[in-house]
Amino acid sequence: MLIQNFFPKDLYAGKTVFVTGGGSGINLGVAKNFAVLGANIAICGRTREKLEVASGELVALGAKVCAETADVRDYAAVEAAMAKSRAELGPISVLVAGAAGNFPCAAEQLTPNGFKSVVDIDLLGTFNASRAAFEQLRETKGSIIFISAGQAFIPYAWQAHVGAAKAGVDNLMRNLAMEWGRFGIRVNSIAPGPIGGTEGMRRLGPEELHEQFKRAIPLGRFGTVDEIGQVAAFLASPLATFITGSLIVADGGQNLPGSGVWISLLASAMAKAKS
Ligand code: COA
Repeated sequence: MLIQNFFPKDLYAGKTVFVTGGGSGINLGVAKNFAVLGANIAICGRTREKLEVASGELVALGAKVCAETADVRDYAAVEAAMAKSRAELGPISVLVAGAAGNFPCAAEQLTPNGFKSVVDIDLLGTFNASRAAFEQLRETKGSIIFISAGQAFIPYAWQAHVGAAKAGVDNLMRNLAMEWGRFGIRVNSIAPGPIGGTEGMRRLGPEELHEQFKRAIPLGRFGTVDEIGQVAAFLASPLATFITGSLIVADGGQNLPGSGVWISLLASAMAKAKS
């Protein structure tokens, strides 16, 4: 269910929100939350079919949509997608840099190229999107939201690549907040915890462990994509005009006790899968 009643329905009317990796998961959920608040939505991703399905869902919510195939590792492709969205929807007011890659792998088995792939998608991709959107955001005095993760500040086993990338993402967020504040651009990160039904959960939280995972989360449940969408809608809104350089952790408290429970649960699942 989309929770749309806490903000005025025209809060983002006439504004363009560009979401990288917007074809699915948390990013599509964020895009939908902006769509129901009147925004025009631009999405990019690697898979055309995913983008087409997502576009249909966003149009059904009343949004004008521009969807373009672009891998965030490819700066020219991101620039082209943003030029197209500008021509069709107007300059970007909100950039959500959410494109990410993840798989669990022990550091001693991870290849340099596996490490690089995740760092390139998450960190370089986030820089590419921010850099390519800069002129449009300067014009609108817009806002940037990075999608981070608990791995940025708590070490999780089999996530060395992700932790390094996301820690870089958060430091980039603080750096850009400092440098681009003078242009009126705010930059913040959201670190979602486990969000039900997403690709990330499929990769990191085997179904049979869900109840045990939930018991280890202080709020006792997984989050929803809409709960992350609402944090994004808040961060980009007039309610948050003095917030920049902040990491908002929206994880039901999952990271407070550290990563130990998750590691031991996943270790048992991996050992079972091997035997
Ligand atoms: N375990 C270990 N290494 C892995 C792996 C896994 N499960 N999946 C990929 N790799 C390695 C590959 O072996 C390769 O390294 P090599 O050339 O040394 O063999 C490297 O990562 C790149 O793999 P490739 O499949 O060519 O990369 P890609 O650019 O097509 O895909 C990934 C990027 C690997 C991040 C892929 O998982 C992906 O597309 N993810 C996007 C969706 C996603 O992760 N969503 C969750 C977000 S939270």
